[in-house]
Amino acid sequence: MRQSRDPSIWRWFDFFPLTDRSSIVTLGEGSTPLLHAARLGEKLGMANLYLKNDTVLPTGSLKDRSNSVGISVAKELGFKIAAVMSTGNAAASVAAYAAAAGMKSVVMVPKGTAPSKIIQARAYGATVVVIDGSFDYEVAKLYKAAIQEFGWYDCLSSNPYRDEGKKSYAYEMADQLDGRMPDWVIHPTAGGTGIFAMWKGYRELLSLGWIERAPKLVAAQSEAAAPIVAAFEKGLADVAPVVARATVAESIQVGNPASLGWRALAAIRESNGTAAAVNDEEILEAQSLTGRLAGIFAEPAAAASVAVAKKLRVAGILGPDDLVVCNLTGHGLKQPEAIQFSERECTPIAPTLKALREYATKNQRPLSRSLAN
Ligand SMILES: Cc1ncc(COP(=O)(O)O)c(C=O)c1O
Repeated sequence: MRQSRDPSIWRWFDFFPLTDRSSIVTLGEGSTPLLHAARLGEKLGMANLYLKNDTVLPTGSLKDRSNSVGISVAKELGFKIAAVMSTGNAAASVAAYAAAAGMKSVVMVPKGTAPSKIIQARAYGATVVVIDGSFDYEVAKLYKAAIQEFGWYDCLSSNPYRDEGKKSYAYEMADQLDGRMPDWVIHPTAGGTGIFAMWKGYRELLSLGWIERAPKLVAAQSEAAAPIVAAFEKGLADVAPVVARATVAESIQVGNPASLGWRALAAIRESNGTAAAVNDEEILEAQSLTGRLAGIFAEPAAAASVAVAKKLRVAGILGPDDLVVCNLTGHGLKQPEAIQFSERECTPIAPTLKALREYATKNQRPLSRSLAN
């Protein structure tokens, strides 16, 4: 791969659909760590488990890869207002990049969206509209009508410029593994942009002769909203919408991946990959293991990739020595209410060693080697 000093995704400017470098809107997205998670891998029976830590992106989620390119194009085309409907992460990201571009933003989210995500979008100056309805139906209907009525720049995943930004996963991983190629990349999947765009990136590198093979791509979904998994298992060419149920993985709670589902399916099949769904219990366990054994606080939707890695390893689909990358696509602080702790743990104690010892015993929190054992 060609090297340059720019650590952002824009070091691959030539791969993106922008004509003028002065249109680039960047917050320094890209070059996120790709870490060998030895302790987590040991727990899951995988010697070569890697975590792509996108929780450290500028607004805390993978959406920054796509919106940096999407909003740069909007700037080049002269738009003044960017809009998106979102389960939360895209809202914050569009708002931040619009702010950096000197544009206004309007974002629509369904009721029930985590307050931290709404607050984040507001902090970047967005007009945040919370809609009384579901993401797939009521929000989608109003959003479509509003885009036509007001002529906003549409930052939905159907915006082809946004796909382009997520191709950077493929370029970055090819750079970061010293010439090795992952056997599998597992990606938390909602609309399917990530899977489709990664595959596009790998195909470009293959056609340039810069890599010799591409990884198998895996879509990780929540059982409560798994239309891509269902279509993959049934061998369908397109995705039939489902009614998404409530799930702790709220960022990927999408039942109708309307415009991109079929492209994600094709990418999974062409790469010889697979798709798997996990339940909330498995997702929360994966979130906890990722925090405690790898030191990364990922939101539940992001931890779905680790939960699927565990599931596929148990099923024997992933081998013990396979090089597996789990994309951790959103920060845990996006949805802090997913972490359970008892009120007792937060009750202030007297400032004495005696009280500290009592606290540790009561809450089974180790303070010394003897307590830890
Ligand atoms: C945390 C997180 N992970 C993954 C995704 C995946 O989305 P997509 O399938 O559109 O790439 C999203 C998007 O909503 C998200 O917010």
